[in-house]
Amino acid sequence: MKNIVILISGGGSNMAAIVRAAERERWADRYGARIAAVVSNKADAGGLATASAHGIATAVIPHKDFASREAFDAALAQAVDAHSPALVVLAGFMRILTPGFVERYAGRLVNIHPSLLPAFPGLDTHRRAIEAGCKVAGVTVHQVTTELDHGPILAQAAVPVMPDDTAATLAGRVLAQEHLLYPRAIAGWLADTSSHND
Ligand code: GAR
Repeated sequence: MKNIVILISGGGSNMAAIVRAAERERWADRYGARIAAVVSNKADAGGLATASAHGIATAVIPHKDFASREAFDAALAQAVDAHSPALVVLAGFMRILTPGFVERYAGRLVNIHPSLLPAFPGLDTHRRAIEAGCKVAGVTVHQVTTELDHGPILAQAAVPVMPDDTAATLAGRVLAQEHLLYPRAIAGWLADTSSHND
């Protein structure tokens, strides 16, 4: 069985969309894959309850308990490795990862970012897109490399920017696309890696 571990920091709506797709599309039968665990760096992340409700193991590694990024990432890697992951999915995980962590999961670490990368890496993407006068915005699923919000692009979706958009209205339009794109991109990755193993 290919284990997927999802890392979250907050509401976990992308994680929930992935979990629902895995159930609906029967990823266990189709790809021999399952969501093995959801790990958060925040104890109050709303997504933890959602994961538990779906019978998924959860763990919390509070970053504030660690003196350095390296120490936090070592503890995080231990929690992730407990599930022998084939794929590690960052879904609204709002911590910058150390090169050591990224290299440990090279080729099996993916992220979703709410912009059309390489435009607008980092925070506040929707406000920045509106201020730049962008007519389209969107979302990117990409492999994670040591450079923040870079790495080979796996999937993108675009949405229009409306003249009266605020960062919040644009974020909502993009998030609806995230919930479609991320499960689809992961299913594509699973299909590719399944056929390589046949
Ligand atoms: C999503 O919009 C995701 O793209 C973004 O945080 C939100 C998390 O929502 N991620 C980043 O900004 C990463 N740089 P969710 O917790 O409801 O999935």
